[in-house]
Amino acid sequence: MDTAQFISKSKNNSVEKASFTWQTPSNIALVKYWGKSNPQIPKNASISFTLNNCHTITTIDFEKKETSEKVDFDLFFEGKQKDAFKPKIAEFFTRIQEYCPYIFDYKMTINSENSFPHSSGIASSASGLSAIAMCLMSLESALNPDLSAEKINKKASFLARLGSGSASRSIEGPMVVWGKHPEIEGSSDLFGVKFPYKVHSIFENYQDAILLVDKGEKQVSSTVGHNLMHNHPYAESRFAQANDNLSKISEILQNGDIKAFIGLVESEALTLHAMMMTSNPYFILMKPNTLEIINSIWEYRNENDSNICFTLDAGANVHVLYPENEKKAVNQFIEKELSKYCQKNQYIYDSVGFGASKK
Ligand code: PMV
Repeated sequence: MDTAQFISKSKNNSVEKASFTWQTPSNIALVKYWGKSNPQIPKNASISFTLNNCHTITTIDFEKKETSEKVDFDLFFEGKQKDAFKPKIAEFFTRIQEYCPYIFDYKMTINSENSFPHSSGIASSASGLSAIAMCLMSLESALNPDLSAEKINKKASFLARLGSGSASRSIEGPMVVWGKHPEIEGSSDLFGVKFPYKVHSIFENYQDAILLVDKGEKQVSSTVGHNLMHNHPYAESRFAQANDNLSKISEILQNGDIKAFIGLVESEALTLHAMMMTSNPYFILMKPNTLEIINSIWEYRNENDSNICFTLDAGANVHVLYPENEKKAVNQFIEKELSKYCQKNQYIYDSVGFGASKK
């Protein structure tokens, strides 16, 4: 695989001090990535909606230091020094140092905050790592002003992927594919690409209400989770199914067959959870209220001829997906019927967004 193209060719090193701030979104997978090989190569291609309201804002202050022996950074989360997050970021810097050798030259002070409540069960690694990647790419383009916007996004996604696979899908929007797939032009295992075909208008400004069922710590970290797919009895058929689903959803997104979209997206969510239930050791990540919500969604859909559906992450929260033309009715249904299944009645209204933005 051509990773040499991502090694920085800094032209000058005259930048003594710099500061960059980026806002990058979370994303929700429609066809899920679950299972990888080293270094962060997905076992199947995946596609996600980029979100709009759930995001991270990160500033990195870079200050040139005397020696370049080791990577040196401080980390602040919501204004407070957060040493607990440091090992993950340190590991990320180790993985990317070959591609961004300039990180040795600067003392980095990272300040980060999320738009969504802390420990809401919403994964912050995708938005968190993509924001750091964008700040690094701003420094890299100050060192090498020839870099094109396209190259910056591509490398940012490549770097973010090395921190957290799904973060590769948090640079652009409204839909991003990560993982090489014969039917998606330009797709790669190394970085995410914008879904390259014209999407039917029914999927424009698609809504995602995130119902916070369980705000606790993740029961299974994604590292442990992905590892469960090694020697999993259904792994190979799952990877083949996911790639097949990506072919199908590519057609669906173009032709607007929303009934087919619902069937595929819900099946993907339940299959992800089925993989966890059938792994060794096994896990049930849904909570009773996750099932209450799913059943209520199905009932509402039948009774109202609605196009509402759900998807799940590797946890108990439910993402309720629906087209913009149903926003009023579905939001009422969420407030009246579904919010009671959420911890402290908490849910977040979001919709499809367009990716990273410089602040
Ligand atoms: O990016 P990771 O390693 O945290 O894995 C994320 C996996 C899922 O969120 C469950 C699915 C996906 O494709 O985002």
